[in-house]
Amino acid sequence: MKEEIEQLLKQVQELTANSAKEVEEARVRLLGKKGEITKLFEEFRTYAPDLKREFGKKINELKQAATAKIEELKQNTFSEASSQAPKEDLTMPGTPFALGSRHPVSIVRQEVVDIFRKFGYDVAEGPEIEDDYHVFEALNFPPNHPARDMQDTFFVSTGHPNPLLLRTHTSSVQVRAMENMSLPIRVICPGRVFRNEAISARAHCIFHQVEGLYIDEGVTFADLKQAILLFAREMFGADSQIRMRPSYFPFTEPSAEVDVSCNICHGKGCNICKGTGWLEIMGCGMVDPNVLEASGIDSKKYSGFAFGMGLERIAMLKWQVNDLRHYFENDMRFLSEFKTAIEV
Ligand code: PHE
Repeated sequence: MKEEIEQLLKQVQELTANSAKEVEEARVRLLGKKGEITKLFEEFRTYAPDLKREFGKKINELKQAATAKIEELKQNTFSEASSQAPKEDLTMPGTPFALGSRHPVSIVRQEVVDIFRKFGYDVAEGPEIEDDYHVFEALNFPPNHPARDMQDTFFVSTGHPNPLLLRTHTSSVQVRAMENMSLPIRVICPGRVFRNEAISARAHCIFHQVEGLYIDEGVTFADLKQAILLFAREMFGADSQIRMRPSYFPFTEPSAEVDVSCNICHGKGCNICKGTGWLEIMGCGMVDPNVLEASGIDSKKYSGFAFGMGLERIAMLKWQVNDLRHYFENDMRFLSEFKTAIEV
């Protein structure tokens, strides 16, 4: 018994463990129900009193030493495990981050593009820095037209027969379409345009347009009217009406301004439509034969229509925004109003 006690005590003193599992194994091996120390106690119980006296103290010391050692190892492996654990509390809820939203002008642009795509139109884009030829010359602007004045257009280079400028409308993309695409042509041209205007609630030096062009044999004003009526009904509601007022553009003849029935008061008159029941939404007309010929299209065989609208204006009508400048100021209080309009 003496030897056994000494041997076990040595074992206990030299005991090491690398994990909580190993500590538990050692505990079971020594102090468990069938553990070696437990067995020793069972044997001890059968001893005569004088032997009990001899070994009692030693065997108790062994048990205490084993219990203390196991406890110590438990503490060590526990603190080791906790020092390896990440410092962060992984059960904490994440920090929410704000989802951005699309700009109202982008939302309207997408809507307009989607409507005309359904009608079979392609989307064409062109350069924002254009030359005089594509913005004015090919579109039948006479040389002394006021739009060609520095007062109205931002020129990038002057003193040149075909100066560079910031396009004042996306009709320049239509010219490029007529030059490059095969007939029949059905395109819409969304894009940013620039005009030398004083900034106010109703005007800005930068804004966005979508212009459209359809050229084929036998295209008539009735086709133009129908295309715009269908567009207005998709955009502003199925009961929308349109009316056309005679107008003038150098590149279309005849030309018209299009009004849509006010979708706020349904024609009764309100402050959005200024009591008229109508809202002006775009310019349009039949492509002037001079314009077709300038791009090499036979105006005896082909005819076409064109239209153009300002996207900020459409967005103002749609959401009843009364100041154009809101669209350019990046004020989060304004932009976050359009969160619900996002479609993913
Ligand atoms: N280009 C014209 C503008 O910028 C709009 C328009 C396009 C008018 C096509 C008629 C036909 O105002």
